[in-house]
Amino acid sequence: MPVTILVGAQWGDEGKGKVTDWLAEDIHIIARYNGGDNAGHTLNIEGKTYKLHFLPSGILRDGVVSLMGGGMVIHPERLLKEMQELATQGVDVSPQRLKISTNAHVITPAHQALEKADEETRGSSKIGTTGRGIGPAYTSKFARNGIRASAMRDPEVFGEQVYKAIENANKILHNVYQAPTLNASECAAKYSREAQRLAPYLVDGWAYLNHALREGKKVLAEGGQATLLDIDHGNYPYVTSSNPTAGGALVGLGFGPRQVDRVIGVAKAFCTRVGAGPFPTEQDNDIGAVMRGDGSNPWDDFGTTTGRPRRCGWLDMVALKYAVAVNGITELALMKLDVLGRFKDIQVAVAYDADGQRLEDFPVDQDLFGSVVPIYKTFPGWQTDIMDVTRWEDLPAAAQSYVEWIEQQLEVPISLVSVGPGREQTLLR
Ligand code: IMP
Repeated sequence: MPVTILVGAQWGDEGKGKVTDWLAEDIHIIARYNGGDNAGHTLNIEGKTYKLHFLPSGILRDGVVSLMGGGMVIHPERLLKEMQELATQGVDVSPQRLKISTNAHVITPAHQALEKADEETRGSSKIGTTGRGIGPAYTSKFARNGIRASAMRDPEVFGEQVYKAIENANKILHNVYQAPTLNASECAAKYSREAQRLAPYLVDGWAYLNHALREGKKVLAEGGQATLLDIDHGNYPYVTSSNPTAGGALVGLGFGPRQVDRVIGVAKAFCTRVGAGPFPTEQDNDIGAVMRGDGSNPWDDFGTTTGRPRRCGWLDMVALKYAVAVNGITELALMKLDVLGRFKDIQVAVAYDADGQRLEDFPVDQDLFGSVVPIYKTFPGWQTDIMDVTRWEDLPAAAQSYVEWIEQQLEVPISLVSVGPGREQTLLR
């Protein structure tokens, strides 16, 4: 069967971009199914660093078509800027290689202003969003007054829709939040100009994909964000506003479940999270700082989109088993194993203590999740730099045991282990 779904198994930033790039060798179309430029992939290829936010990582592979799915939300100006930056680096971003689904939704400056105002009123219970207007754009979509990308086919009509949307949002900004309002005419004119540039990229995504599948083409459905940020399955309300889980791929792109044969989960060998919300295994201390790195390398754990230091902690098997279940993960890619070489002992949460009761199943009740104390199992560290290792057989025995133990616990194979950012720092099993 022709579709592989690639999904983040933790709180995002697991390194999906690197896995996509590796898989892309056998793939014809890479289709991103959710989110917007809240995502950020940093890819290091042949000494060059590329930063992607909206665009599927397949854009860096010759011969692969990138599709931005209907489940995405798109900000025209920021998308054009990202395309321009890649073009300057020599990447082909022509309409032959990049397609935008007509049913994707459009992010306006009003969405960003509403998000800012909303975060301010939340005080200490801020979500800690990326500030890109993602949540309000999905709110408009579900309230059935959003703007679909298809409207860009007629820049004049598109401008009128943007004008109306901004005027409506201005009432809320002014009356509810007492926040500054926006100039609707200027926004509308700017969006019209941008629509002219993006119109050649529009396709009906479902049709494009299903014709390609019928022709025997292989598709990689790439999720933004990750399982624990999913609006339905994540740590609500500390989540993003879309469905990064595998089900989101079907809805966000428009194909049936029987097309899918692989669901690849991507997890770090430890955990990171940006933004607010519960994180039981968090190490807000020297251990976390060592995991994060000092920021001197592009692959240290600082946000690609916001530059925020990521919160770091030990691997959480309760959460990872949950991710395997809710996504139907069939194999796992384990990333950043090299980072654990910095520790004498390595801890892994195997269960939670909830007020004296042992929990092995991930709790949906987020107050409960916020109060659990991890029960750890300790593994001996290998305390060596493994970034130069290129074959599984050459990994230290302690590192192999760590990976094999995770695999046995999850009951899914770990088919790829990453020990560094480069393409060659990938151990296939
Ligand atoms: P939003 O998606 O900007 O609404 O942010 C909601 C939450 O999801 C915040 O905690 C963000 O930090 C987090 N988030 C959104 N996108 C990503 C991502 O690509 N990686 C990691 N965290 C993300």
